[in-house]
Amino acid sequence: MTKIRIAIQKSGRLNEESLQILKDCGISIDNGKDQLKASSRNFPMEVFYLRNGDIPQYLRDGVVDIAIIGENVLVEKGEDISIAEKLGFSKCKVSLAVPKSFKFNSIKDFEGKRIATSYPNTVLNYLKDKGITADLHIISGSVEIAPNIGLADAICDIVSSGSTLFKNNLKEVEVMLTSEAVLAVSPKISEERRELLEKLQFRIQSVLRARG
Ligand code: PRP
Ligand code: MG
Repeated sequence: MTKIRIAIQKSGRLNEESLQILKDCGISIDNGKDQLKASSRNFPMEVFYLRNGDIPQYLRDGVVDIAIIGENVLVEKGEDISIAEKLGFSKCKVSLAVPKSFKFNSIKDFEGKRIATSYPNTVLNYLKDKGITADLHIISGSVEIAPNIGLADAICDIVSSGSTLFKNNLKEVEVMLTSEAVLAVSPKISEERRELLEKLQFRIQSVLRARG
C-alpha cells in the first residue's frame, strides 16, 4: 500500500504541536521514543523525524512528500517549495536586534556592522533590498550571546516570547518576517500520494476550523 511520507521536526518547538495536529486529524502514530521513523496504524502515513534545517532538501529531493515546518525555514532554505496549508501554530518573527545601549535610528545603522545569525540568506536578501551591506557571522545556535562576547554588533534570529532577547540585554529593532508552521509539499510528489495529501488536507482544514 502506498503511504504518504511526512517529515516532522525531531525535537524543538514544532515537534509537539505537529504531532498534536495529526492526532486531532484522527491519525495515530506508533511512537517509540528515539525512533526516527514511525508509521500510522489508521492512515497510510509514514513519519520521519528530521532536523528542521534539513527538511527543505528532503522535500526537494522527493525523499519525503510533505512536511510540517516553520515558514521561516522555507524562506531561508526553500523558497522553491510550495505551501499547501498554513497551520496557525508556532508563530514567531525573524528579527534584527541590537544591544539595548545601541542608539538605533534606522535600518541604515546596520551598514558595515557585524551581524550574527543562523539565517544568512534571509538577512542578506533583506539588507540587499535596502541597499545595505553587512558582515555576517553564521552560527547555528545561541545567537543572542554573540554581542555580549564581542563576536557581533547585532543579531538576527527568531523571536517568539522575546525572553531570550531580554535576558541577553538586546532589543528588537526590525521585524524582517513573521512566520508560522505550514504544511509544505515536495515538487516531486506522485499523483497517488497527492490524493493522500488531499485527504489529509481535508482533515486539517476541519481541525483548523474547529480550533477557530
Ligand atoms: C530559539 C531562537 C531564539 C529563541 C526565541 O532558540 O533561536 O533564540 O528560541 O524564543 P523566545 O523569544 O521565546 O525567547 P532555541 O531555544 O530554539 O535554541 P537555539 O538557538 O540554540 O537553537
Ligand atoms: Mg536561540
